Amino acid sequence: MPIGKGDSMMYLEKLFGLKGKVAVVTGGGQGIGQTVALGLAQAGADLVIVCRHGADETIRKIEEVGGKAYYVSCDVTDEAQVKAAVAEIIGKSGHIDILFNNAGICYHKDAYEATVEEWRRVIDVNLTGEYIMAREVARTMIDGKIKGSIINMASMSGTIVNIPQRQAAYNASKAGVMHMTKSLAIEWADYGIRVNSLSPGYVATPMSIDPKFVDQELMDAWMPLMPLHRMAKPEELVPAVLYLASPAAGYTTGSDIIVDGAYSIV
Ligand SMILES: NC(=O)c1ccc[n+]([C@@H]2O[C@H](COP(=O)([O-])OP(=O)(O)OC[C@H]3O[C@@H](n4cnc5c(N)ncnc54)[C@H](O)[C@@H]3O)[C@@H](O)[C@H]2O)c1
Repeated sequence: MPIGKGDSMMYLEKLFGLKGKVAVVTGGGQGIGQTVALGLAQAGADLVIVCRHGADETIRKIEEVGGKAYYVSCDVTDEAQVKAAVAEIIGKSGHIDILFNNAGICYHKDAYEATVEEWRRVIDVNLTGEYIMAREVARTMIDGKIKGSIINMASMSGTIVNIPQRQAAYNASKAGVMHMTKSLAIEWADYGIRVNSLSPGYVATPMSIDPKFVDQELMDAWMPLMPLHRMAKPEELVPAVLYLASPAAGYTTGSDIIVDGAYSIV
């Protein structure tokens, strides 16, 4: 049946609207997490920003567009802190509908030179941290009979090996995230909890453009490898997360959405 004049917004609202939903974003104080938190808020969700060093800027941006957000301090690698953070959120918001499990780190070093501590730290934040957050949030969804959506941050690095930098721990952690996502999707399907992952290519955030981590030589080496001749803007990841978070994705679970400007197919 054709939609009537003026009904298209209602149609989009029904598919993608998040009004009344509580969304938790880890690592939401900057970068992709900040931009996605803002996007979720603009789609109607109430936001909780979970990170280690405050999220004043993110909260200000969300309030400027009329959204609601608060900050909870937490290192995602610390089980006790995650449990306390999730308990605080349930105390304040009552329930959690959406988790964007985004906090992550990377270092560049040859695998034969890296220390086991450096390796463990990356696996700890990127893989174990996402597991602990997902587990604690899923427990609240199961207890509260919430048919929620968990979106784990993976990367194209979970499928391809970036060059020329050396980042074996990061690549392994993201491959782990992708298969953990599929495993959790199967385990929690009976509770109506959907679990998916997102695999971006290079995105212009502090992690990939800050001269503290990436020098000009590396940037010059990356650019010819990008079919679109540029990095993604963080805003270009928002629609994929909105889809996964929304009722529109009711039959989408155990999937990985690639947003890499075709980097990984050449
Ligand atoms: N930037 C890229 O090119 C790119 C590409 C693919 C995937 N990713 C992934 O996207 C996610 C966000 O990255 P970004 O580019 O926005 O980087 P970023 O460095 O700007 O943000 C990472 C966030 O994670 C937080 N964080 C790190 N360790 C934490 C911990 N132990 N506990 C709580 N918070 C912690 C940081 O404080 C920061 O807010 C990461 O998982 C990253 O691996 C980034």
